[in-house]
Parts: sequence; structure tokens; C-alpha cells
Amino acid sequence: MPVTQAREIVPATRLENVRYAIRDLACIADEVARQGHKILPLNIGDPLNFDFKTPAHMIEAVYQAMRDGKNGYSPSSGIAPALDAIRGEAVRKGIANIQDVFVTSGVSETVDICLTALLNPGDNVLTPCPDYPLYSAVLAKIEIGLNTYYLNEEDGWQPDLDDIKKKITPRTRGIVLINPNNPTGSVCTRKMLEQIAELARRHNLIIFADEIYDKLIMDDDPHIAMAAVAPDVPVITFGGLSKNYLAPGWRIGWGIASGEAPVIKPYLEGVNKLLRARLCANHPEQYAIKAALEGPQDHLVEVKRKLRSRRDLTMKWCAETSRVSCVAPRGAFYAYPRIDIPEGDDVFVTELIRQKYVTVVHGSGFGQRPGTKHFRIVFLPDEKTLTAAYSAIGDFLRERYA
Ligand SMILES: Cc1ncc(COP(=O)(O)O)c(C=O)c1O
Repeated sequence: MPVTQAREIVPATRLENVRYAIRDLACIADEVARQGHKILPLNIGDPLNFDFKTPAHMIEAVYQAMRDGKNGYSPSSGIAPALDAIRGEAVRKGIANIQDVFVTSGVSETVDICLTALLNPGDNVLTPCPDYPLYSAVLAKIEIGLNTYYLNEEDGWQPDLDDIKKKITPRTRGIVLINPNNPTGSVCTRKMLEQIAELARRHNLIIFADEIYDKLIMDDDPHIAMAAVAPDVPVITFGGLSKNYLAPGWRIGWGIASGEAPVIKPYLEGVNKLLRARLCANHPEQYAIKAALEGPQDHLVEVKRKLRSRRDLTMKWCAETSRVSCVAPRGAFYAYPRIDIPEGDDVFVTELIRQKYVTVVHGSGFGQRPGTKHFRIVFLPDEKTLTAAYSAIGDFLRERYA
């Protein structure tokens, strides 16, 4: 007689706080699409969904690697040519005192490994608010309470230094800085980086500098790497192929560890223990790292031209639309407009999908100051699609909140 299972299998309670608003919304969009409506997706930061293509020489490098039989496991930190190329890139970014580099399955895995290797129960790490939600999801998974610092909308979304100072506790071990920022598109000034480095020195913090968008700066002034202004401070700089090199599906990211060797080495042993435990990152795709970092960079000219034009179109719409205001993004491909509406921004985005078939992400999915409401736009689609989406959002605002 077959045995039937009596009790349901329930997930771990620590997952109750794991949220990822960007993908969670996709369920509602799928439901609307199943009803036969064409969705205008301004919610997922994947350039390959739009008119962007992975550079051909990178595809060739991976194809060649597969044909050459590079299909087994790789060393846990990554293959030598990739690690050399990442070190070269770190030097070009002005990073000195490099202590280690390692390749991961996207920056997502770098984040997971770096936070897991650092934090004991009761510790905390400062994360920005608003933040890219992976950070809070990983912290929830490893049962670490959130300790967030505000980004200051009135100051072009620069980190609020006074808030950071207030939030540092004896159990604060590190600070996450996303620069260029997701979801605001802001880029940190040198002065801000120096001030954060000074706090890290004073409070013995490690800095996680997520610079995955560092080559997607739309204006003229260059991106400044956190580790370059603070060679003495322990910093792990995150980078990867997903955004700058238009290959998010390959799942290739990396970490560059810098700072004084005696200070950071013990932590790096922990990181490497976790790197070994998960075997390795995708092997053939690692062959694209050298091709990407040392090969032609022509695609970036075209990508930035498109992003500049789409950012400007987005800002024009924000300026002309009542109830909407927006700090101009300078990097990445996100805008984070503020909206003045009498209901939650989560209701705003779900009704917008259901009534106008446009998907954006609610500010409450990233975190924001109490009393403020926002939504995140991914301005990767072409001008025609963006114009149609903004016209639909404008109609929605007028009809719903007239
Ligand atoms: C700030 C930030 N960090 C990390 C990631 C994850 O990148 P990856 O595709 O390398 O895992 C993203 C993806 O959107 C991001 O916006």
C-alpha cells in the first residue's frame, strides 16, 4: 500500500524576509500577458531584452573554449588568464594593494560569498536605502538583521553621511556602496568616497564596492573606484560581464580584494573556503573575461549613446509630467522618479500593469524614506517603446489621480 505524506513540507522561516520585488512583479505581468496584452517591460535590467548585443569577440572566445574542451571544472578562484585580466583591469581602475581576485557566478554570488564569509549572528553590515534588493535578500537568508543608511534625494542621491555615522554600531562589520547606483543611477563624488573611507578606517569596516555599472557613465566625468581613493582600507570591488559587457546570462562576476595584507588576509581565507566549497564559476564563459577586458571596447560607445538619449527622453517626460519629479541619473540604466500620489507605490505599479500593461518596480521594493513614494524605470528600451510607455503612465496618472 503506497504511503501518502501527511504533513506539508514547509520552507525555512528565515526565508520569510527574502524578497526580490523586481522578479516578484513578473508574476503579475505574466498573468496580464496571458490575457493577451502586450507588456511594456521597464522592470528588468537586462540589456539583452532590448536592442543590445553581446560583443561578437566574446561569444567567439567562449565558443572556442567549449570546442577546446574547457568544459570541466575550473580552479575555484577562476582560470589564470581571467584572473590576470581582472588584475589588469583593477590597475586601470587605479586600485593598488591588490590582495586577491576571484571569479564567481555573477556578482550575485560574489555578494552571497562575501557577506556569508564576514558576518556572525548579531553582526550587521550597512546597506543603502534604497538598495538593490539582492543585498537584503542574502542578509535575510543568513539571518542578519538589516542596518540601512539613506541615500539623500535632495543631494542627488549621494549617501547620507550623517545617517551612516548614526547607524554604525559596535557590531557593524562593513558597508555596502553601490556606485553607480541601482536604483537611482547616481554616481558618488570623490569627496563622498573619501569620507566613507575615513569612516571605514575609524570603525574598522570592510567596504563592499559594487561597481558592476562602472563603464556605463553617461556624462563626461569618469567613474572613481572606491578602492582607488583608499588603498589602505579593506575593500572588495565587485565587477562582472552582465552589464558593461552585455552578457548577463553567462553569470560571470568577480571580486577584487585590496587593502593592507595583514588586515584583509584572514577574511580572504574565509572567502576562499566558500569559493572552494561551491567548486567553480561557469568554466567556458570565463574565457570571455580576457576577451572583454582586453579586447575592443567599441560597443561601449554605442551603448552609452543609446543610454544618454533614453535617459534624456526619460528626464524630459518626468519634467513635463505632473506628480512626477526625478534626479537625473548619471550612470547605469535606471531612473528613480518620485511620485506624489494618495496611495502606496505598490498599488500604483500593480494597477499600472493591470490597466496599462507597463511594468515598473515600486519604490517600496527597494526601500525609501518614510512618507516618500517612488518607482524605478529601466530605460533600456528604444525611444519608440519608451515614448509609448511614458504616454501610458501619463494617462494612468491623469485618469487615476485627477
Ligand atoms: C547593483 C547590482 N549588483 C549586482 C547585480 C547582479 O549582477 P550579476 O548579473 O553579475 O549577478 C545587479 C543586477 O542587476 C545589480 O544591479
